[in-house]
Amino acid sequence: MTKQTPLLDVSRMNIVFGGLRAIENVSVQVSEDEFIGLIGPNGAGKTTFFNAITGYVKPSCGEILFDGKSLARKPPSKIANCGISRTFQNIRLFPKMTVLENVSTPMHSTPKYSVWAAMLGLPVVKRVQAETDRRAMEFLEILGLGEHKNRQAGTLPYGLQRRLEIARALAASPKLLLLDEPAAGMNNDECSELIELLREIHKMFSLTVMMIEHHIDIVLKLCSRIYVLNLGQLLAEGTPKQIQTDPKVIKAYLGERRRKA
Ligand SMILES: Nc1ncnc2c1ncn2[C@@H]1O[C@H](COP(=O)(O)OP(=O)(O)O)[C@@H](O)[C@H]1O
Ligand SMILES: [Mg+2]
Repeated sequence: MTKQTPLLDVSRMNIVFGGLRAIENVSVQVSEDEFIGLIGPNGAGKTTFFNAITGYVKPSCGEILFDGKSLARKPPSKIANCGISRTFQNIRLFPKMTVLENVSTPMHSTPKYSVWAAMLGLPVVKRVQAETDRRAMEFLEILGLGEHKNRQAGTLPYGLQRRLEIARALAASPKLLLLDEPAAGMNNDECSELIELLREIHKMFSLTVMMIEHHIDIVLKLCSRIYVLNLGQLLAEGTPKQIQTDPKVIKAYLGERRRKA
């Protein structure tokens, strides 16, 4: 762990749903440029942790600092504007829109022209839209989706829909990208392609990435540090080597996954 101020600094977070303690006293620090893994059994609280950082769930106590500033009481849209983008475990695309529109539409959320210009159909409107589509296409090309730009997003195979979610998250120009099971439902070939793609994106955009993933190979290949959650609590934190050989982690999670593999 470097000495610089962490980009994301979560301290003593607690989240309670009714009587269930979904997150208990969890502290996580992520420095700029890191690629961090977040693993653990189903129901461990991984998605809830992402939901709290992105403002979908309010912690009952604890602090979340991003770039040194508190994210408390900020709604998801404001947190996204601060530079945090995410993908969802349950894909959230606009299924009836085209692939291109799925990436370009969120880029229009802060239009660079007035309502009057839009109503009058002034040339500036067309120019800005063309530029937005051009940028959206760049993200699609990087994710290998260029040839599908005019397809309805809902008709894409599952693996490509997951890639489209990543393209859309990148289009918001985040500093921190949170990936919630980006390889879910992918076969071995698709997983290998995804590893290369994520490695490239991490470098190309100078991104900091935190990734929840059950495909342990992907986590071990990409992440320099890994946090392990179990029953809402932090079970371990360390390098891939430390995590792989940690008896607590093997007992609670890795042993189970090896038996299934
Ligand atoms: N909005 C919610 N309301 C009530 N319980 C929830 C909610 N979100 C998650 N939970 C519960 O919190 C626990 C952790 O869930 P989750 O964060 O989705 O786990 P993971 O992503 O590690 O599989 C689970 O027991 C789940 O049922
Ligand atoms: Mg989850």
